[in-house]
Amino acid sequence: MRVLVTAGPTREYLDEVRYLSNASSGKMGYAIVSAGLKLGWEMVLVSGPVDLPPPPGCEFHPVVTTREMRDASVEAFDQCDGVIAAAAVCDYRPIVRVAGKLSKTGNPVTIEMIETDDVLAELGTRKQNRWVVGFALEAQNPRENALQKLRRKNCDWIVLNSPAAIGADSNQVELIAADETTQATWAGSKSEVADSLVHWIAENRERGHG
Ligand code: CTP
Ligand code: CA
Repeated sequence: MRVLVTAGPTREYLDEVRYLSNASSGKMGYAIVSAGLKLGWEMVLVSGPVDLPPPPGCEFHPVVTTREMRDASVEAFDQCDGVIAAAAVCDYRPIVRVAGKLSKTGNPVTIEMIETDDVLAELGTRKQNRWVVGFALEAQNPRENALQKLRRKNCDWIVLNSPAAIGADSNQVELIAADETTQATWAGSKSEVADSLVHWIAENRERGHG
């Protein structure tokens, strides 16, 4: 079993020193990598910038921008049996990346942005006989929105967690299948939730790639 995990935030640069990002700690994704290694799986970690060391024994691909995360993930996915997308990808990027450093003018500024690549959706279109697990963090209509994401990104399962999880050590999640059924709910530290998730996948992965 060889599994790709995306983790951490991505950064999108306005100029050479300023970027847009989010507060993802990477803890959930790194815990999933550690959990997979404990099961004896080969784990490939594609991670944005975080303050955590890569779990010893994983294949580590550090990235910064969403495009880098997309390219590294698409390449790694070819050799994997499945993917767990725990990254908190930056959704927008400035259309223009200014060379050097923008200077203050004393006036308001408007930055035009477009959506970044959807890494998970791209892997979903390429999945063939592999299983795909997404994450969803929803403030409103959590189940409905999570299911929409599952379908849009061609996932087999989606892990719904609450916004309180960002940067926290613990987590409460629901695992939802493409047929809208709740497969499991887990609460605990991110490492406990990660262990439960990979054990569940180990036992149920044949039901994926639908
Ligand atoms: N994801 C991704 N690439 C993106 C955006 C999201 O791979 N550009 C993945 C995340 O890693 C996660 C899933 O898609 O597994 C859902 O992420 P989320 O941010 O909840 O969904 P979005 O599609 O970005 O929608 P929105 O943020 O508007 O709710
Ligand atoms: Ca998003």
